[in-house]
Amino acid sequence: MTTTEDQSVSDAVTAGSHATDIARSGAATFRTGGGQADPARVSAVVGAALEGIRAAIREQKVTYEEFDAFKRWLISVSDTGEWPLFLDVYLEFEVEKVAAETQDGSVGTILGPFWLDGQAQLDSPATLPMRDDEPGTPMILAGQVTSTDGTPLAGAKVDIWHTDEEGWYSGFASKPPAGNLRGVVTADDQGRYEIHTRKPAPYTIPLDGPTGQMTLAAGWSPWRPAHIHLLVTAPGHRTLTTQLFFTGDPYLGNDVASADKPELTLDPQPTGNGDEIRSDRDFVLAPE
Ligand code: BEZ
Ligand code: FE
Repeated sequence: MTTTEDQSVSDAVTAGSHATDIARSGAATFRTGGGQADPARVSAVVGAALEGIRAAIREQKVTYEEFDAFKRWLISVSDTGEWPLFLDVYLEFEVEKVAAETQDGSVGTILGPFWLDGQAQLDSPATLPMRDDEPGTPMILAGQVTSTDGTPLAGAKVDIWHTDEEGWYSGFASKPPAGNLRGVVTADDQGRYEIHTRKPAPYTIPLDGPTGQMTLAAGWSPWRPAHIHLLVTAPGHRTLTTQLFFTGDPYLGNDVASADKPELTLDPQPTGNGDEIRSDRDFVLAPE
């Protein structure tokens, strides 16, 4: 999210604690597993992670001053509720790559921390909830949802969320109203969907919290290219978690969350209706 003077400096804390509540509740149940962890697995994964950090300490000759600064930084990640943000910016893309090794169908990418349950349920063709004077280029995203064998998936759900033209997510920043530019669209009996919205904007992760501060301290770019998030679901099929980006975006290839992929780039074209643009994108879901 971009940081502007008229936006409260507490947005990082507000967004962070909201994302933490969602992660704690396990609301993203489409991905959660369960059960008791196998001690051998815990030892292998946690052991490898700790050894990675110990190797960094040895190789970089980390000082006590740096170790104490690291402790303070970890505590502030907890205090601001930024664990979901930090983990989704810097680690989720690797987990997604592992998951993609065993998932057929359309290319996916990370979920990120800004998905919300319980949004407007809409039939295709649908217009996402938005303000009367919602800024931004009107955009249509349309396509068909099929199974890997080409069968249309009637009634597939396309859960979509993205920022407004200023880079703010509803539900996490104070500016856009609740539910703005979010919705769950039901495809027709041929699996076809059509969604009318506004083109989103590139944005920075919150810069006033520890994740953004660390990013800036390291001299790394805090920007994400503009993107549309999608969760595409149909009974008997694995959920597709993906994002769509825009050709020509200056932050493509330098996404702070490392989530952009060439296969996920849209090239919207004018429809001839004012400044409206349109992109067509089909989704292929793998049977469970
Ligand atoms: C996002 O998609 O908005 C996002 C993903 C990972 C970290 C932060 C934001
Ligand atoms: Fe996002």
